[in-house]
Amino acid sequence: MRIAIAPGDGIGKEVIPVARRILEMLLPGAEFFDVELGYEKWKRTCSACTDEDIGALKDSDAILFGAVTTPPDPCYSSVLLRIRKELDLYANLRPVCGDGFDIMIVRENTEGLYSGIEEIGTERSTTLRVVTRKGSERIARCACGLAKERRNSLVIGNKANVLKSDVLFRDTCLSVAAEEGVSARTAYIDALTLDVLMHPANYDVIVTTNIFGDILSDACGYLTGGLGMLPSANIGEKYAFFEPVHGSAPDIAGKGIANPIAAIRSAAMLLAHLGRTEEAEAVEDTVGFVLAAGIKTPDLGGDSSTEEVGEAVIKRLS
Ligand code: NAI
Ligand code: MG
Repeated sequence: MRIAIAPGDGIGKEVIPVARRILEMLLPGAEFFDVELGYEKWKRTCSACTDEDIGALKDSDAILFGAVTTPPDPCYSSVLLRIRKELDLYANLRPVCGDGFDIMIVRENTEGLYSGIEEIGTERSTTLRVVTRKGSERIARCACGLAKERRNSLVIGNKANVLKSDVLFRDTCLSVAAEEGVSARTAYIDALTLDVLMHPANYDVIVTTNIFGDILSDACGYLTGGLGMLPSANIGEKYAFFEPVHGSAPDIAGKGIANPIAAIRSAAMLLAHLGRTEEAEAVEDTVGFVLAAGIKTPDLGGDSSTEEVGEAVIKRLS
């Protein structure tokens, strides 16, 4: 088994080594290899992600990724958008769990407003929002599959009242849900976001388009104590890529205080994807134990470092 490790930039370089140690402990037979991606690499080599890097990522059974910094340079194209497209990682799964709630956000990951089809001008700039039947159908199938394993309840987050492209998304999701026997309802994404924050226990699976899923999942960080807690999986037919929801956090990078839980939980999702469900559950339980013991980074009100939280998880796991 081959696991690619791509820490990226900023706090990615601090939280991913912790998550990697956990994977190395729980997957003793696996081969781990590094892939360098991101802005630091771009500054050094003028390329944030080469064709060889894409090849290396494809030559793995799973990828653990940190975060990359996106500079405000119009010539710099997003590394993540490229990887999601080239590996066709169409489903972005973002679980949000806590006391009394267990939500799975299923975000369409390859089209919508992140189509990458843009025209930049000084007076007028446009970004094309692409919604296809094929794209909507496969993300709806994925969300329905998850809903059936869970509480059989699907909410389709959309803005079809204003965006005509969302009519195709909404109606395709509704017909897939009917076909799959999943109980589904639609909701406008703006009011939905507030309602999820106010009544998280009412939600099971939420499926939505690319940018709405991005924003909704960051907002849900409010329910869990912040961005440092939220893991994610990017899944396609062939490849699987796991990463914390947060970015490279330049404001705290280098201080050794980044919360590694989101990265550790992303490693747990990687384990579950490889069929190591017992190990994945052990990691989740251990995270709960360590937090309950008050070993927390400053974003959660604690005074432990990234290393100390990581050490506590590793010690308890072993
Ligand atoms: P961010 O997620 O990096 O940070 C937002 C806020 O949350 C910051 O105050 C940060 O300190 C805090 N935070 C995030 N993760 C944390 C953790 N693990 N522990 C403690 N605090 C944490 O988002 P921001 O500031 O909007 O973006 C920073 C850079 O990251 C930008 O260049 C952006 O493009 C990039 N980015 C990359 C992503 C990725 O690679 N998946 C996702 C989001 C942003
Ligand atoms: Mg985001």
